[in-house]
Amino acid sequence: MRKEKALLSILSDGEWHSGEDLAQTLGVSRTAVWKQLNRLMDDGVSVERLRGKGYRLTDSIDLLDGDVIASRLATTVRDALHLDVFDTIDSTNAYLMQGRERPDKTVRACVADRQEQGRGRRGRAWSSPPGENVYLSLALRLQGGFAALEGLSLVVGVAVVRALDKLGLGRARLKWPNDVLVDARKLAGILIELQGELEGAARVIIGIGINVHMSDSERVVDQPWISLDRAEPRVAWVRNEVIAEVINETLSVLDVFERNGFDALRDQWQSLDALYGQALRTEPDGDEGIGAGIDHTGAYRLDTGDGEKTLRAGEISIRRQV
Ligand code: BTN
Repeated sequence: MRKEKALLSILSDGEWHSGEDLAQTLGVSRTAVWKQLNRLMDDGVSVERLRGKGYRLTDSIDLLDGDVIASRLATTVRDALHLDVFDTIDSTNAYLMQGRERPDKTVRACVADRQEQGRGRRGRAWSSPPGENVYLSLALRLQGGFAALEGLSLVVGVAVVRALDKLGLGRARLKWPNDVLVDARKLAGILIELQGELEGAARVIIGIGINVHMSDSERVVDQPWISLDRAEPRVAWVRNEVIAEVINETLSVLDVFERNGFDALRDQWQSLDALYGQALRTEPDGDEGIGAGIDHTGAYRLDTGDGEKTLRAGEISIRRQV
């Protein structure tokens, strides 16, 4: 797919391109272009051919492009970040877990068009078909050891909602601890993994999966889901833009988190709480009550009618009562 990628990138504008122009731009013969087009079609890309006009893609295609992502990052973010872009990878989180730090950069980022072993929370798989969604991981060091990381996954949720709001989706909300929902359907998930010492600087790997163009056939999941295309069809969602904005917002929120702690972002999280005032049931314990927001550590409060129960991330999940 390497050679075909440049061809696909030219065609991704959806316009007609003559064989001659393609050959010239790519610096190859017309026969080579024709062979590459055939290979693309064998891979399921739908290409239309018209005598006198040339070739164009039948369906629009949303390609990942590291240069486009970089061009949309805030300057300070771009300077601090090393970005790897893959066609296929096992998992972007696993890649950064294995990877080394880069002495010249404080943040590493990795995105992939598809993941073969996308990881979700609680050991679940994360469906990661090609061409459809965002699979993004960030690795960085945060001061204060593991104890200072309480609330980290919640503030990343705030960053994702803020980024989507900037791009035109204003009604995303958070389901504790960090699912991003629209109309009670899951739009995005966050998986935080930690490396390093109990004290001192901990290395965190933040994995973010966002459904962008996902189609029905692609998804095998145990809960209702939604994509950006469906949640806000008036916006032409472009994965490179979503990735850049999510990186910008995540690093901005983490800066506040590291300097001022979770309390500085708590009110923002509360204002996005999809479960507040809802009748809830915990799993697997089966406690029932009304959602009452988070405490100063980020634990969720459940008003049981007989006092308050505090839920900690990783132990219990919450579902709406049916
Ligand atoms: C969840 O279960 O809600 C968390 C899903 C996290 C998925 C993302 S996709 C990018 C990164 N790489 C992975 O393997 N998982 C995370």
